[in-house]
Order: sequence, then C-alpha cells, then structure tokens
Amino acid sequence: MSEVSGKPPVPLLEARNVKKYFGAITALDGVSFHLNAGEALGVVGDNGAGKSTLMKILSGLYKPSEGQLLFEGKPVKFDSPRDARSAGIEMVYQDFALAGNMPIYENIYLGREPGRKFAGFTLIDRDLSRQMATDHLDKLKIHVKSIDQLVENLSGGQRQAVAIARATAFDARVVIMDEPTAALAIKEVGKVLDLIRTLKEHGVAVIIISHRMDDIFYACDRVMALYQGTNFAESQLGDTNRNEVIGWIMGTKGHTDTLAHDKVH
Ligand SMILES: Nc1ncnc2c1ncn2[C@@H]1O[C@H](COP(=O)(O)OP(=O)(O)O)[C@@H](O)[C@H]1O
Ligand SMILES: [Mg+2]
Repeated sequence: MSEVSGKPPVPLLEARNVKKYFGAITALDGVSFHLNAGEALGVVGDNGAGKSTLMKILSGLYKPSEGQLLFEGKPVKFDSPRDARSAGIEMVYQDFALAGNMPIYENIYLGREPGRKFAGFTLIDRDLSRQMATDHLDKLKIHVKSIDQLVENLSGGQRQAVAIARATAFDARVVIMDEPTAALAIKEVGKVLDLIRTLKEHGVAVIIISHRMDDIFYACDRVMALYQGTNFAESQLGDTNRNEVIGWIMGTKGHTDTLAHDKVH
C-alpha cells in the first residue's frame, strides 16, 4: 500500500531527538532512529556511547529527558517496563535475570503464569504451563533435554535462549538484546544468532547491541552506530562493510581511500 501511495512505511518504533541526562552527564545527545517491523537492527558504538541507555529508554526502564518515542507512528510514553511490554517491546537483560533454581518452563512464564484467576490469586496450571513452554520452545527451534531442567544446570547459550524465549512468550513485537553473545563460548554464539533469525521469521523486530562485527553482519539487516550519544551513521548492511562500521564506532567517516587500498593489496 505504501508503495502505491509513494509514502514510506510507518516505522514500528521511532525515536526523535531523544536526550538523556544523568546529572551533569549527557548520555544521549539527541538520538533519532527508527526500527521497521520484522527487521533486525544492529547497534554498535564504543563504551559509553549511550547504547544501553537508549535501549533502557525504549524498554521503559528510563524516561527520556527530552525527545519523543513513537510506536506505529503514535507518540508513546513508557513509565515502566510494564508499559513498554504492553506495547510489545521486551528487553532481554545482559544478566539474564532468570531464576537458576527453577525449571526452564517456570522461568519462561515467571510472574506471568497461565492459570485461572481466583479471588485475586492465579491458580497456576502446571500442565498448561509445561505444554505452552514446550510449544513455544519448539516454535523457536530451541532444543533442551527437558523443560523440567533447572536453569542453573544450563550452558550460557541455553540460558540466553531461555531468556529470549521468556521475552517472546507473549506476542512480543520488538525484542531488544544488549550484548546477547558477549558472555558466550564461541560454539554457542551461532545458535543465539540463529535464534535471532528465527524471531525475524516470526515477524518479530530485533535490536541487537553487539561489539562483534560477525554478529552484526550475520544476524542484522541494518546497522546504526552511536557515537557520543548521537546516531553517527546508519546503513543497510549490504551497503557497507566492517571497516566502515568500525570507523563509525571511532567517530570517523569517509576513509574510502584506505578501503580501496586494502582491496588492491
Ligand atoms: N545510571 C546512570 N547514572 C549515571 N551515568 C550513567 C548511567 N547510565 C549510564 N551513564 C553514563 O551515560 C553514558 C552512556 O552509558 P551507556 O548507555 O551505558 O553506554 P554504552 O552502553 O554504549 O557503553 C556513559 O557516560 C555512562 O557512564
Ligand atoms: Mg552498554
């Protein structure tokens, strides 16, 4: 429809001139960016560039000091992660925030268990929980020995997968991951990246912060580089390359001579 009318599609999520101050520190200095439905956006930037702060604003943990968020073209204000979640925006936390001493299936629905409401309490339906967890993990092609396994007995990659399954258990539209592969053994990284691709197949838009160019170029459609609290550069991945993106992280643009030189030799 948008092609017929000639208008660009309305982004799923958009930030306009978002600023965030922590006392005298300017963490975000006017960031504008958008995320399209079903797209995987990689976010890169040096330590302190403002990546985590921006994600915390998108997921309702922080309020912007200035600027605006729009969801499906409409201005939104998130006062808490609960507000963002009800819009369909979920964050997968770096520390996973799972309960190690509980089984996989309970972690997926922790605090949001399916069941019947009774006099203000929810009577948790364990069979239903287990069945729903099994179906959900199957859908995401996450393989575990048993959904009754305790999370503390899982590998880092499996835990990350459970955290992602938890974030997507209730019709998430956007899933935000802050360094999802940073703590993983190399052989587990691929599985988490494949899981990101599976989320995309299910129409979920994903934002991934990563320092690893391999992650970005494997799992993402587009990349945005934050530099000192601003959107320094962004591109479809097919229109850029690792050297250029690394340059953006360092706050430099347009070193095409170097790239041409690299290609010759
Ligand atoms: N809760 C906070 N209180 C004070 N300063 C913060 C807080 N969170 C982040 N900052 C500062 O904001 C800037 C951006 O941080 P952050 O968003 O964590 O960057 P990144 O994730 O890109 O490394 C840094 O200077 C950081 O020290
Ligand atoms: Mg960070």
